[in-house]
Amino acid sequence: HVIDASKLLVLPGFIDSHVHFREPGGTQKEDFLSGTRAALAGGVTTVLDMPNTQPTTDTQEHLSAKIALVAPKAVVDYGFYFGATDTNIDEVAQAAHKVAALKLYMGSSTGSLLVTEFSPIYRHFSTFPLRKPIVVHAEDEQSLHYFGTQGSQDHNQARPPISAQIALSRALAIAEKTGRSLHIAHTTTQRELELIQEARQKGVHVTCEVTPLHLFLTEADQQRLGNYGKVNPPLRSQSDQDALWHYLDVIDTIGTDHAPHTRQDKDQPYAQAPSGMPGVQTLMPLLLNAASSGRITLEEVVKRCVSNPARIFGLKNKGALEAGKDADIVLVDPEQEYEITDREILSKCGWTPFAGTHIKGKIEHVFVRGTLAYHKGAILATPGSGRAVQYVDA
Ligand code: NCD
Ligand code: ZN
Ligand code: ZN
Repeated sequence: HVIDASKLLVLPGFIDSHVHFREPGGTQKEDFLSGTRAALAGGVTTVLDMPNTQPTTDTQEHLSAKIALVAPKAVVDYGFYFGATDTNIDEVAQAAHKVAALKLYMGSSTGSLLVTEFSPIYRHFSTFPLRKPIVVHAEDEQSLHYFGTQGSQDHNQARPPISAQIALSRALAIAEKTGRSLHIAHTTTQRELELIQEARQKGVHVTCEVTPLHLFLTEADQQRLGNYGKVNPPLRSQSDQDALWHYLDVIDTIGTDHAPHTRQDKDQPYAQAPSGMPGVQTLMPLLLNAASSGRITLEEVVKRCVSNPARIFGLKNKGALEAGKDADIVLVDPEQEYEITDREILSKCGWTPFAGTHIKGKIEHVFVRGTLAYHKGAILATPGSGRAVQYVDA
């Protein structure tokens, strides 16, 4: 291929530090081939995969099995999270150098991972390598009764008061006491960002994530999308969303929380329908569009989708375009306009909550470590060409 890049923008390949590729155990929803193909088409050249698979990634054996299973399938580079349980302190210690981070669910979500007691939380916080982040899902259990897994579909009901952020406060206090790095997954409210900012001023090593779902959708979209818009944490009000944009300085990473579920799963009655929406393929398009309308600069986007995740998770040779980094490169036509549709979604779920969204800025070519892997709608990369990331501390 001869590529004329004279009218194109160059961007570093994005790092999506929050995906659920469902392998093993949920491969009717996604597997590592479909998930990494969707990533590639979306300009994401590195993904960090969550541990709430079946079995959960909570023992050395389960981690090794997962690596063996996905390595021949991946078309982008990848790393893994290890899952914290009440009892797996020793397993975590053995696996720490092989993973990007430890995921600890302080509130329940899809899957069975959950740690709510003080003692195991404290032990994980004090023993996991202090400079490697523990990533927490810090939704209060009590708020889930209103918004989440047992939520009511009656949107005319008055909204209950916003949660007290008990889980987040506990996580921050224990991180302060133990002096460890903490990364807060999917923050959605001004209150959370205020608590994080306060903790930082006290010297707590805390970073945080926001998802494109919460940056670009609100509870009004939830009404339109029904079960397809059900997610933990839930889509919030317009004023909550405005706060995320207003406090963008406090937010370190934009991770998609790519959580695909089949139409069959989503079409169940509301209470049974699982939470989560796909997002890895639409991350860069949505942010290019936001940049083209002046809502955010490309520099601010690259910081949150490349430099910061590379630094926070200690990803060797990954990061913004500079000497010594892998040639993970995306070429974008900033003038081209199109509409997102379900048709080009490569995730096995086959749908996106962003169908119908008008986008300015089209991904044309994607290189993974110097090799042209995606070219104008065609995936050129072969299964297994993606590699496991290495960690700076390992
Ligand atoms: C995620 C999933 O489906 O795996 N669901 C979600 O609603 N976000 C789990 C999670 O990230 O909490
Ligand atoms: Zn979560
Ligand atoms: Zn998630």
